Amino acid sequence: MIKKNSLYDVKFLNKFHYNSGKKLNIRLNTWKKYGSNKVDLPNWITNEIFKDGFYQKFLDVGCGNCNFVCEFIKKKLSEDITCVDISKKMLNSCRIKLKETKNKINYVLADVQALPFEDDLFDLVVAMHMLYHVKDIKKALNEIKRVTKNNGLIIITTSNYYFDKGLNKIHYDGLRKFGFPKFTLDKKIYCRFTEKKAMHLMSIFKGHIKIFRYHNDLIFTNLKDALAYYTSSMMYRNTYGPYDERIKIDLWKELLKFINYKINKEIIEKGSFVSPGEVIIFKILNKK
Ligand SMILES: C[S@@+](CC[C@H](N)C(=O)[O-])C[C@H]1O[C@@H](n2cnc3c(N)ncnc32)[C@H](O)[C@@H]1O
Repeated sequence: MIKKNSLYDVKFLNKFHYNSGKKLNIRLNTWKKYGSNKVDLPNWITNEIFKDGFYQKFLDVGCGNCNFVCEFIKKKLSEDITCVDISKKMLNSCRIKLKETKNKINYVLADVQALPFEDDLFDLVVAMHMLYHVKDIKKALNEIKRVTKNNGLIIITTSNYYFDKGLNKIHYDGLRKFGFPKFTLDKKIYCRFTEKKAMHLMSIFKGHIKIFRYHNDLIFTNLKDALAYYTSSMMYRNTYGPYDERIKIDLWKELLKFINYKINKEIIEKGSFVSPGEVIIFKILNKK
């Protein structure tokens, strides 16, 4: 029983994608190693957006491997931190990573669509690269607004996708070349929370929004690492990836061979395979 969109299929995400911190770590480490921007995203955001601020009660929803929380602790930007994730395994990976910290950390297994907190509790709430996983994004945004204090800060991030370049281009070229079912070509599956859609949904914040852009291209010089990134990422499991019973497993094998060939060719000919990337950061002042 295949559902329509794997991106917000909680059971699927928990069982395959966020069943450990491993896949997310591959992606984060790839950005660190091959990113053109030598300042990583949590560091960049804390430098650009938070500067001298201090946020007594800080909530990270969809905290993943708590990369952002670690940066916050390092820079002493908060004391009382709450990590929320829908995956037990991700929360466990945070517990291990933060076991030495002296900060007060609460780990809460919860869905951003129904946060188990009272109104007006947090000075800062962040939702980084997670709203595209949420079935009812509007509900999630309303929950984030509700638990944030009046004049509190909300930071939301998402990716800007380029379909005519880099990994996305060869991915869709491959899908077409090998005759993948039509629904896998529907880019709407992938683009659940783009800048335009986000702005529309965020009208609940009544315009108190500032947009920042963080540019970071992946410049791969190593084929194995590029493939590890590709197979750990959304693209590969667009729909249900190799778990999709509607798609023959041989097709995925063909696709991987093709991706392998394309990346390798460019690394040999040009010295690197470049996949452009941009993160959109919404800084919101919560007005009630
Ligand atoms: C792409 S990862 C981002 C992790 C982290 N915020 C970062 O930027 O490195 C998405 C995270 O959101 C979590 N998640 C997905 N759906 C969620 C939901 N409805 N409520 C809370 N967390 C969710 C996943 O388990 C995963 O850890």
